[in-house]
Amino acid sequence: MSNKKKIFSGVQPSGNLTLGNYLGALRNFGLLQDDFDCLYCVVDLHSITVRQDPELLRERSYAVLALYLACGLDPDKNVLFLQSQVSGHAELGWALNCYTYMGELNRMTQFKDKSQKHADNINGGLYTYPVLMAADILLYNADMVPIGQDQKQHLELARNVAERFNKIYGDTFVIPEPFIPKTGARVMSLQDPTKKMSKSDDNVNNFILITEGKDKIIKKFKKAVTDSGSEIVYDEENKPGISNLMKIYASITSKSVEEVQKEFEGSRYGDFKMAVGNTVADTLEPIRIRYEELMQDKAYLDSVFKKGAERAKSMSEPMIDEVYRKIGFLR
Ligand code: TYM
Repeated sequence: MSNKKKIFSGVQPSGNLTLGNYLGALRNFGLLQDDFDCLYCVVDLHSITVRQDPELLRERSYAVLALYLACGLDPDKNVLFLQSQVSGHAELGWALNCYTYMGELNRMTQFKDKSQKHADNINGGLYTYPVLMAADILLYNADMVPIGQDQKQHLELARNVAERFNKIYGDTFVIPEPFIPKTGARVMSLQDPTKKMSKSDDNVNNFILITEGKDKIIKKFKKAVTDSGSEIVYDEENKPGISNLMKIYASITSKSVEEVQKEFEGSRYGDFKMAVGNTVADTLEPIRIRYEELMQDKAYLDSVFKKGAERAKSMSEPMIDEVYRKIGFLR
């Protein structure tokens, strides 16, 4: 690794990835790979905070890696790896648990949401989830973390924990900055635009999968709820449906919302929805094709994971050593 700034981010293999994951995270991963030293992790340890089927979890771990690659991440340039194959994440996660207050964890909105959704399994891991995420980032002294809006609170916690540790033991961790895209940071559900688009949603019409076929994507956009009125104008409060579609279109075409508004001045909702559907489908089509090819070659995916884990291990070991030494563990 050079002396470029460092990037870390991760995606959970807890479901099929959506357009939200793509616009909020994956697409930006690719844009950063030339200017930064990047580590992109498949965070399987995080995913077991919700019960997973073992066989499906393995398949989805490959699927996230295949999508990283299909979205254009170069496995030689970036460290692409599986979290459970690098022991430093769990080790630093445990240590940092002892520097994180329950009061801080109680404030995490994702914990509150997920405990409502999985009321029969509110486990300790779900509660301390953000500490493991802090460990992921701090383990490599990442300067920047590309994420969607929903992860911002977790990143703030990581910063606080890092600052606390540094204050007690002297400079140890770099304080990471979030990298949140201007549009696409919070893609909303197509049927309920007041709710985030989520891969774990029960209603399949709420989300677009990155790997969905063209016809299905267009059909879902056609069905997307729109608001009263007939003009394509950006108004999050009164027109959440149209505003969400405008942001999706803006993000995928790298235009501003104002430009999108101008482009569709005088158009009807139906035509606009078709345009968004077509553009999204055309963008995702080559990714799906490459993804399907890659999923046929598990040996190759294993080799990428293996090389990634070796590199991540050698990058993380000095940090574990330093933290353990500072805390007072015998080395
Ligand atoms: P996860 O797996 O839920 O989502 C992966 C990334 O996708 C973003 N995202 C969205 N962006 C825009 N609109 C949406 N509707 C949308 N849904 C999801 C997320 O913000 C995220 O960037 N805790 C993380 C995984 C993680 C991590 C980390 C991330 C573990 N350790 C260290 C960064 C750094 C998560 O659950 O993401």
